[in-house]
Amino acid sequence: MEPLRQTQRPRPWRQCVAGLLFQLLLALCVFSYLRVSRDNPSGSWLSGPNTTVARAAAAPACQTTPGPPARRPLVVLLWTWPFHVPVELRRCSDLRPGTADCQLTANRSMYPWADAVIVHHREVSAQPRTQLPQAPRPPGQRWVWFSLESPSHCRQLRALDGYFNLTMSYRSDSDIFTPYGWLEPWSGGPTAAQLNLSAKTELVAWVVSNWRNASARVQYYHQLRAHLPVHVFGASHQPLPRASMMEVLSRYKFYLAFENSQHPDYITEKLWRNALEAWAVPVVLGPPRSSYERFLPPDAFIHVDDFPSPRALARHLQALARDPARYLGYFRWRETLRPCTRNWALDYCKACWHLQEEHRYQVVPSIASWFT
Ligand SMILES: *[C@@H]1O[C@H](CO)[C@@H](O)[C@H](O)[C@H]1NC(C)=O
Ligand SMILES: *[C@@H]1O[C@H](CO)[C@@H](O)[C@H](O)[C@H]1NC(C)=O
Ligand SMILES: *[C@@H]1O[C@H](CO)[C@@H](O)[C@H](O)[C@H]1NC(C)=O
Ligand SMILES: *[C@@H]1O[C@H](CO)[C@@H](O)[C@H](O)[C@H]1NC(C)=O
Repeated sequence: MEPLRQTQRPRPWRQCVAGLLFQLLLALCVFSYLRVSRDNPSGSWLSGPNTTVARAAAAPACQTTPGPPARRPLVVLLWTWPFHVPVELRRCSDLRPGTADCQLTANRSMYPWADAVIVHHREVSAQPRTQLPQAPRPPGQRWVWFSLESPSHCRQLRALDGYFNLTMSYRSDSDIFTPYGWLEPWSGGPTAAQLNLSAKTELVAWVVSNWRNASARVQYYHQLRAHLPVHVFGASHQPLPRASMMEVLSRYKFYLAFENSQHPDYITEKLWRNALEAWAVPVVLGPPRSSYERFLPPDAFIHVDDFPSPRALARHLQALARDPARYLGYFRWRETLRPCTRNWALDYCKACWHLQEEHRYQVVPSIASWFT
């Protein structure tokens, strides 16, 4: 190949331009071939951590050779395990067949090759400036801020301003949306006639571990229980072993899904697991009804804000308990929809899929002013 040979013979301008273009193309081919060889000496596109294929893939495509092999999976580094507890990572294409895979890893030695770094808030919140990655950020690497705790339980948010490219949380306006639960279409849910209410012998249950008397939810509870019995389980109340929790809660008609703090979209496993998996109607205290209706049909839950007082709510619950037809109205949606709950492996795959599909340059100027 002699791409740079110059010929002196005069020729018409058309040929001259065509010749120049051809030479440029050849030069590009040689250039990209050299880059690929340098970046990927083993010749394998999938050969592990030392293959910086990201740079090779960015080289101009060469028309005279076959197209590049299937794109290398993105390397996604989990900077810490959430709450320091390692979780099982799954192949994303196993979770949803036909989707992309990423190389998910918690090995910090992979930092220089990581296309993205997911930083779970809790483990960097004591000393953000020293707990975040310290090495220079490789070009193009994206940092994802991740929290499922509400702003009330996220310290030092201000110190994180200016580092991140994407957000990942339960909030529906996150770049990577990881709610505690969601509904999926389902055929074959039970009709009202198929539901057996005779096992629902109890009225209202509440499981609470973090009891703060001054909190909104405990104050509401004090007022509510003046008008109807509420069975409280948890650390400072009647113990409820995890193994029997669903069985016990499913005997109740209602479950108090009271959040520990009130923030937009902050709707946790208290609703998705404790209430809905136990087939107890959720009585919710948290963000406004409009926030819940982003996730659930309006007749799937009872909101404390729908009532002028705890006493009025107590009356409503007692009236429903005496009226099976009306009570069953809160289950109608379950004929065609079923609740699903999150897990870490799926959350990380949601990040993988988003990062694969969305490549635009972006920055989150301030987590603190958004996450309120
Ligand atoms: C972490 O990655 C490095 C670099 O690829 C590798 O040498 C090391 O063995 C890995 N450590 C673990 C615990 O997998
Ligand atoms: C309904 O549930 C009760 C209590 O669990 C059980 O004894 C009864 O057999 C059930 N009835 C039907 C029709 O499944
Ligand atoms: C908790 O709050 C309730 C209602 O305001 C009050 O009656 C009760 O004395 C408080 N309990 C404690 C231990 O402070
Ligand atoms: C990611 O965010 C950082 C900090 O704001 C910024 O410097 C960098 O250019 C961003 N990178 C991408 C790929 O968006």
